[in-house]
Amino acid sequence: DWKMQDVVEEEIKVINETVGPEDHVICALSGGVDSTVAATLIHKAIGDRLHCVFVDNGLLRYQERERVMSTFESDLHLPVTCVDASDEFLSKLKGVVDPEVKRKIIGKEFISVFDEFSKGLEQKLGKKPQFLVQGTLYPDVIESCPPPGSGRTHSHTIKSHHNVGGLPQNMKLKLIEPLKLLFKDEVRRLGRILNVPDSFLKRHPFPGPGLAVRVLGDITEGNALEVLRQVDEIFIQSIKDAGLYDIIWQAFAVFLPIRSVGVQGDQRTHSHVVALRAVTSEDGMTADWYYFDHKFLDDVSRKICNSVRGVNRVVQDITSKPPSTIEWE
Ligand code: XMP
Repeated sequence: DWKMQDVVEEEIKVINETVGPEDHVICALSGGVDSTVAATLIHKAIGDRLHCVFVDNGLLRYQERERVMSTFESDLHLPVTCVDASDEFLSKLKGVVDPEVKRKIIGKEFISVFDEFSKGLEQKLGKKPQFLVQGTLYPDVIESCPPPGSGRTHSHTIKSHHNVGGLPQNMKLKLIEPLKLLFKDEVRRLGRILNVPDSFLKRHPFPGPGLAVRVLGDITEGNALEVLRQVDEIFIQSIKDAGLYDIIWQAFAVFLPIRSVGVQGDQRTHSHVVALRAVTSEDGMTADWYYFDHKFLDDVSRKICNSVRGVNRVVQDITSKPPSTIEWE
């Protein structure tokens, strides 16, 4: 991939012209492709004057923290601090049911954790870091400032997306956006050259607010998050085993805040209902629900009810976008 090799060299040159030899750079890793590729590129240019932070907000998927931290450390050798802020996030989300309020709380809490991390870093370095990395892509640039007459609307007016992007501007950090001229498929090609594992580059998108928008209603009630993690893991693993992961654009489970009656081992149960969602899409703006074969669905449903305590019913979401959105909240 000669073109991407050139991009790497060009970017490293630009980064070294922008970031002075004594300057330090800070980067929040979300666990997604963009921030990972951006950080890897910057690390190649300036080494350990890059300081990454990964926040465990308590809303991650099954073993996600362990999995992404192992990629960051063992495969990419990135200098990264993992901050476990799950208690803070979960206590702020207690009793909250409105999806937009959830997003706002999560965005705000993220900023406060990030702020604390950068203050700690400033003390350690004896000076402020000067730069902040953002994994902005070309389509984000267009979307936040749609060209006149393009017919594009600002998607953030539909849902407020709190990506790692929404960091405080009062920190007076200069932005470095090494991916801002690239499309998603180019970021993947770039990542490949930088030795980001393929399993990572091909991961489905995952929303910044994480499982908080996949447990409908109050996420702190009962053991909803834990149940959802187990169900989601079975569903995703089954999709991988069936060789469908790369065809499907995004797949996940949703925890519903209702109970239904069931019968398990001669016992009447009154337990949780989970929904499975899988879609194909080009860019997430529109999407079609995915047609699994019946045998696959039957196997997944049995596996879930047999192995996840407290679930006695599995349903599938058969709506496209529009009229639905991909997420349920
Ligand atoms: P919707 O549900 O709006 O989702 O059809 C489109 C894509 O965006 C993701 N999504 C989010 N991503 N913060 C994010 O970073 C958010 O608040 C958020 N809400 C939805 C969703 O997973 C899908 O890929």
